[in-house]
Amino acid sequence: MAALDNDALVAVIGAGAMGAGIAQVAAQAGHPVCLYDNRPGAAAQAIEGIDRQLGRLVEKGRLTPDNRSAIRARLQPIDSLDDLADARLVIEAIVESLPIKQELLRQLEARCADDCILASNTSSLSITSLAAGLRHPERVIGMHFFNPAPLMALVEVVSGLATAPTLATILYDTARNWGKQPVHTRSTPGFIVNRVARPFYAESLRLLQEGAADCATLDALLRDAGGFRMGAFELTDLIGHDVNYAVTCSVFEAFYGDFRFQPSLVQKELVDAGRLGRKTGQGFYSYAEGAERPQAATITSQAPVERCTVEGDLGVLQPLVERLRAKGIGVTERAGSGLLRVGDATLALSDGRLASQRAREDGLRNLVLLDLALDYANATRLAISHGAECSAEALD
Ligand code: NAI
Repeated sequence: MAALDNDALVAVIGAGAMGAGIAQVAAQAGHPVCLYDNRPGAAAQAIEGIDRQLGRLVEKGRLTPDNRSAIRARLQPIDSLDDLADARLVIEAIVESLPIKQELLRQLEARCADDCILASNTSSLSITSLAAGLRHPERVIGMHFFNPAPLMALVEVVSGLATAPTLATILYDTARNWGKQPVHTRSTPGFIVNRVARPFYAESLRLLQEGAADCATLDALLRDAGGFRMGAFELTDLIGHDVNYAVTCSVFEAFYGDFRFQPSLVQKELVDAGRLGRKTGQGFYSYAEGAERPQAATITSQAPVERCTVEGDLGVLQPLVERLRAKGIGVTERAGSGLLRVGDATLALSDGRLASQRAREDGLRNLVLLDLALDYANATRLAISHGAECSAEALD
C-alpha cells in the first residue's frame, strides 16, 4: 500500500462545489486539510457548509458528534498560497480553464516542497498540457472526483505523458483509503467518464432543440425507461452549466471538432444568461423557494384494452407481453414480423427509422413505435412515437 499517511497535510484549491466536497472527503479520512479560494471568504464559507453537511450525518446517526468536531477541527481556510510549504498533496478544483490552471500550477510549484504531489480535479483538460512547462511535470496528475464528491465512489486517477507511475499508484491507494473506487486512466480527452457522458448530454440537448419533448419528459424517460439516476437536464443543473459547457467545449476541441461532442447553443444561452443551475437558483428548472417542477408528458389511455395480438417474435419487447398477460389482457399469438396489434394500432420496436417512413416502407397502418428501454419487465415509462398519419383512435 503506497497511500499517503493519514496525517499528511492535504491542500485543496478552489472552494466551490467540488473543492468543498473533496476537502470534506480528505478530512473525513483523517487528513489535516487547508482550503484556499481567491474569492475572499469563500474558503471559510465552504468549511461552514461542510460542517452543516456533517451535522446532517450526525442527525442521521452516521457520524458521532465527537467525530464531527474532530473533522471540523482538521479543516482550515487559508488566505494565501504561501501557506502550502508543508502540503504533501495539493488538489486544485478551480475554474475549468487551461491557462488559469497552468498559472496556478506555476505558482504552486514555486511554493510547495519538491515532493509535494500536484493533482488536478479537471474534468477534461489534458494533464499533459497542465504539466508542460513546469520544472517537475512528473509530479502532476489528475485526481478526478465526481459530484457530489462525498457521495460518489468513483475517482479517475489520470496520468499525463510525464506523470511518474509511482504517483498514480500513490493516488490510487490514497483514494482507496478514502473509501473511493479509483480507476487508472491516461490523459485522453474527457478521460473515461466524460468521454462516455458527453453524448448523453449532447443527445438530450439535441432532442430538446429539435422539439422532440420537453426537459421534464426527457429527464423522466432517462430515469424511468433508461435506468439512470438523473436525466441530462437535472444533472447538468446540478453540475453547473458553466462547468458542463466548458467541459463540452474542451472535449469537442480536443477531438478536432467531432460532431458527437458538439456544444449546444441551448446550453450556451443558459451560461450567457447566468442561469448556471442549482448554484444560481435557475437552470433548466427553477430552484426558487416553492418553485414547482414541471411534470413529464404522460399519456393515460381512456379506452381499456382487453385483448391484443402478437405477430412473430417481439425480441426484447417480450417482457411487455408478460406484463399485459399479468394485467388480465388476452394475448393471441400468430406468425408475423414482430408486431403487437392493439385495437387499430400497430406497435413495433423502434429500428431507427422515423415512424412515418417505416409505416410507408413496410405498409403498416397506424404505426406506433416503442423506444428502447433498459428493462421492459420493470420500466415504469416508455417513449412512443407515431407518424402524422396515425389516427387519434389508434393512439387512444
Ligand atoms: P465552482 O464554480 O463551483 O468552483 C470553483 C471555485 O474556484 C470558485 O469558488 C472560484 O472562486 C475558485 N477559483 C477560480 N479561480 C481560482 C483561482 N485562480 N485560484 C483560486 N480559486 C479560484 O466549480 P466546480 O463545479 O467546483 O468545478 C471546479 C473544477 O472541478 C473544474 O475543473 C471542473 O471541471 C471540475 N469538476 C466539476 C464537477 C461538477 O460536477 N461541477 C465534477 C468533476 C470535476
